[in-house]
Amino acid sequence: MIEDIDTARILMLDDDELATKTFKLLLSMRTSFDVVTFNSAEAALDFLKENEVDLVVSDFVMPDMNGIEFLTELKKIKPSVTSILLTGYADKENAIKAINEVGIYKYLEKPWNDDDLIMNIKNGVERSRLVETIKMQKEIERLRNDFIATLTHDLRTPLLAAIQTLEFFLDGTLGEISDKQKKFLSTMLGSNEDMLGLVNALLEVYKYEAGNYVLNKEHFDFVPLVNQSLQEITAIAQKKNINIVNNMPPSVIIYADKRELRRVVANFIGNAIVHTKDTIEVKISKENDIIKFSVKDNGEGISDEDAKKLFKRFSQGTSKKRSTGTGLGLYLSRQIIEAHGGEIGLDTKLNEGSEFYFKLGDIKND
Ligand SMILES: Nc1ncnc2c1ncn2[C@@H]1O[C@H](COP(=O)(O)OP(=O)(O)OP(=O)(O)O)[C@@H](O)[C@H]1O
Ligand SMILES: [Mg+2]
Repeated sequence: MIEDIDTARILMLDDDELATKTFKLLLSMRTSFDVVTFNSAEAALDFLKENEVDLVVSDFVMPDMNGIEFLTELKKIKPSVTSILLTGYADKENAIKAINEVGIYKYLEKPWNDDDLIMNIKNGVERSRLVETIKMQKEIERLRNDFIATLTHDLRTPLLAAIQTLEFFLDGTLGEISDKQKKFLSTMLGSNEDMLGLVNALLEVYKYEAGNYVLNKEHFDFVPLVNQSLQEITAIAQKKNINIVNNMPPSVIIYADKRELRRVVANFIGNAIVHTKDTIEVKISKENDIIKFSVKDNGEGISDEDAKKLFKRFSQGTSKKRSTGTGLGLYLSRQIIEAHGGEIGLDTKLNEGSEFYFKLGDIKND
């Protein structure tokens, strides 16, 4: 809903005094808009430099500056203001050009039709408001992202210092401590590490959300990257008696950001090891120039309702189980894959298991 447009201010420019007077009278009778009129373009521009207006109506042919020149100047001062050009019938073609070149909202023929004029002014004012609102929302979003990026960054430094200090206490560097003290300090260390994990993840997420990320793409073999991630979980897999099925070709060269993709792979595999019953299958398939990488488990599966939320921010845990992670893993994975122009998804069935996958196209070249 556009808020009260009755309070809008309209600026009208016409070298003909009769026209400005008629305009002002008409609007005062039919609307409650605040109307300011000018008979010279220069005076109007001076006013616009100092004052806010919601809509500008301008004559096309004037002695000191023509309407298009005037509206071009106007755009420089107030880029988002809506403008209406009044033209004689003979200038129609030029007016149409102006719509494209200067980006005016409407042109109306002179002598104008009162109802038409009022209607177009009202619509134009609404348009101005809408443009303003969108601009404001974008600015708020930008400020929010800047704020969070700064905040998370500034949180890391003291956290790292605290972790380091706690480690020094625990390893005896800072002198002997009792077992009881050790227990408390270990708990503190754990909590601090969790918090650092969250801060790091937030930092990554907002890097993508703010749009200021740069992908460092290179050609590399994707298979060893996956194998490395698998290597990292072998100890846990053995302990939990989880069988890892490797269905990958010996080598798949892709063109992508290696570091970022590693995050996605590690998250898929990390999630699978937590949720599977006794098997994890890792697969790469290739069709045309699209590769599909997937990690399949035979765990509890995910309900449709939960599945919809998983790739969103802070979607932590399903209704079945709460996670101790940040809940940002899959959200970040989605950001990374989408930044690569790829697709991320999930096939799952309750009590049977889940298969998380991503597809990347254009893997040979940029
Ligand atoms: N293979 C899976 N089977 C069942 N549920 C899963 C599976 N993978 C993820 N989930 C659910 O999706 C949630 C979100 O996963 P995501 O990776 O985004 O966050 P997380 O693992 O909780 O935290 P983080 O990845 O930051 O450590 C998990 O908490 C879990 O409930
Ligand atoms: Mg995860």
